[in-house]
Amino acid sequence: EKGNYRHFMEKEIHDQPEGCQRTIAAYVDTLGGRVAVPGDLDFAKLERVQIVACGTSYIAGVIGRYLIEQLADLPVDVEIASEFRYRDPAIRPASLVIAMSQSGETADTLAALRYCTERGMQSAAIVNATESTIAREVDVVWPIHCGPEIGVASTKAFTAQVSVLISIAIAAAKARGRLSEAEEQRLVKVLLEAPRLIAEAIGLEDAIRDIAVEVSKAKDVLYLGRGPMSALALEGALKLKEISYIHAEGYAAGELKHGPIALVDDQTPIIILAPFDAWFEKSASNMSEVMARGGQVVFITDTEGAKHAPAGAKVVVTAPSSDPLISALVMSAPIQLLAYHVAVLKGADVDQPRNLAKSVTVE
Ligand code: M6R
Repeated sequence: EKGNYRHFMEKEIHDQPEGCQRTIAAYVDTLGGRVAVPGDLDFAKLERVQIVACGTSYIAGVIGRYLIEQLADLPVDVEIASEFRYRDPAIRPASLVIAMSQSGETADTLAALRYCTERGMQSAAIVNATESTIAREVDVVWPIHCGPEIGVASTKAFTAQVSVLISIAIAAAKARGRLSEAEEQRLVKVLLEAPRLIAEAIGLEDAIRDIAVEVSKAKDVLYLGRGPMSALALEGALKLKEISYIHAEGYAAGELKHGPIALVDDQTPIIILAPFDAWFEKSASNMSEVMARGGQVVFITDTEGAKHAPAGAKVVVTAPSSDPLISALVMSAPIQLLAYHVAVLKGADVDQPRNLAKSVTVE
């Protein structure tokens, strides 16, 4: 039920602190301060991980790749399932396929998974629906525990998927001898802070509603970020086009000069996602570049980033600072809320956007 909310999407955005807490509780031994990922997979023996998924689930997978490769030194490929399944990809048996799917029924993801399992790969699924076809066909099921998601635009499932991937990255790093006990405990502590920080980020809603008024008048919107924020830029753009029908593009900010900068004018809002992380300086200089061309920048950063941001952004949104391990979780709420409020202002059917279905069971 929607309770006091106008739409399921709004409710599901607000459900995220609690949902995320439930997810993390299933992957972490809170008292011991350790990860406890279910299943008896030996991450130390893996040579590669292949993530296959569609839409928002694919974007969660891209964030997972940053974390797993960085923490566990385990190569990860992430591919859109509809591409993967038809291109005769090369398979190595000592690898794990992870099918990421909220519904567990997405036709292309299922076909990509089968392609891998038929060739001897071990398999896992990160799903919300644990009785789904995808969940039934894998060696290990990693549920996201966020409760049913009704809105067609995925929100709480996305942050729950990312939470599972963070836990997997820590577990893989530990199994592969890349983490001391103290470091594991530190990372687990950081992860446990995520629900509170997500709640704080949701608290930015009033400021974001104001930004939505401007964004709702735009014909095109550009989202930029680096590192995991480049994936979140894709997610921001996908969310906006899906429910508000405004054309939006998400780009890795380093690609700006290779094409998208030609789009910049004073009519195009440029949303830059830049917490104060290893990529911050680079993103800040991209901000200066677009402002020099008249771009109207909405700079979504964190407390530390706000202190270092170049002057001149039209708006600065200051999310709480967090460890880079969880910044994708914290920065999700502002982009979800922005898409939501733009769609509401445009009078769009937020929970049932045109031409879309919640579960895509045909290719
Ligand atoms: O159920 P799945 O996670 O497999 O669904 C994948 C996509 O269809 C889904 O994420 C879609 O992109 C969402 N509507 C995005 O908000």
